[in-house]
Amino acid sequence: MSKPAKLRQYLQALGYGTRREVEALVATGRVTDAAGEPLYVDDEVGEGAPARGGHRLPHDAVRVDGAPLDPAPGLLVALHKPVGVTCSTKDPGKLVYDLLPSRWKAREPIVSTVGRLDKDTSGLLLLTDDGQLLHRLTSPKHHQPKLYRAALAEDLRGTEAALFAAGTLMLEGETKPLLPAALEAMGPREARLTLHEGRYHQVRRMFAATGNAVVTLHREAIGGLALDALGLAPGEWRLLGPAERALLGG
Ligand code: URA
Repeated sequence: MSKPAKLRQYLQALGYGTRREVEALVATGRVTDAAGEPLYVDDEVGEGAPARGGHRLPHDAVRVDGAPLDPAPGLLVALHKPVGVTCSTKDPGKLVYDLLPSRWKAREPIVSTVGRLDKDTSGLLLLTDDGQLLHRLTSPKHHQPKLYRAALAEDLRGTEAALFAAGTLMLEGETKPLLPAALEAMGPREARLTLHEGRYHQVRRMFAATGNAVVTLHREAIGGLALDALGLAPGEWRLLGPAERALLGG
């Protein structure tokens, strides 16, 4: 739910421009209500009745050049991250933010990735501008299991499932063993792995610890939210609604 704000601040926070640019948008009548009536910088946007008889509109009633506004604050996005794209705001090369509308780069609060996937990993990536939601989705207390599918360089030995399930595997350079993880063999060189934590390059390092190597890695699901069910092709994204959010634990 978006907190009410003056139209000028509201549009600035959505990335529609600097204070001056937004003022110019409004002054030239390009910001209207759904009926095409021009709005004023001091009009309010948000839920609920305005104070002292002012003018307040819900987010969905505002138009810029006749088009509905970008998503309201509090968004949660599912992206099918392709291989070769980095989860960062400034690395060289292609970034996950390049796959989203360019105006979103100027949103305040910023849209952050919920955790990360390696550049060479594909699959389900969540992004949000909601700090509380980000905290909940990343905190170990509210942990959501993550399901990965890995193609391997060598045949599975048959001992990996027991090793990963034991909760005793120590990765190189670490001092705390991994939590138990479930491995399901899908073929001689293919496995599904369910993790309950997210350490740096965890899947690749787990297989490296068994003398194997990950060739391709794809995240299929987070909690009850499966990428296949979202119907997103690589590089595509969409906003998640209440039913899909509930699959992430509420
Ligand atoms: N484990 C990895 O090794 N890489 C990822 O991107 C995610 C989990």
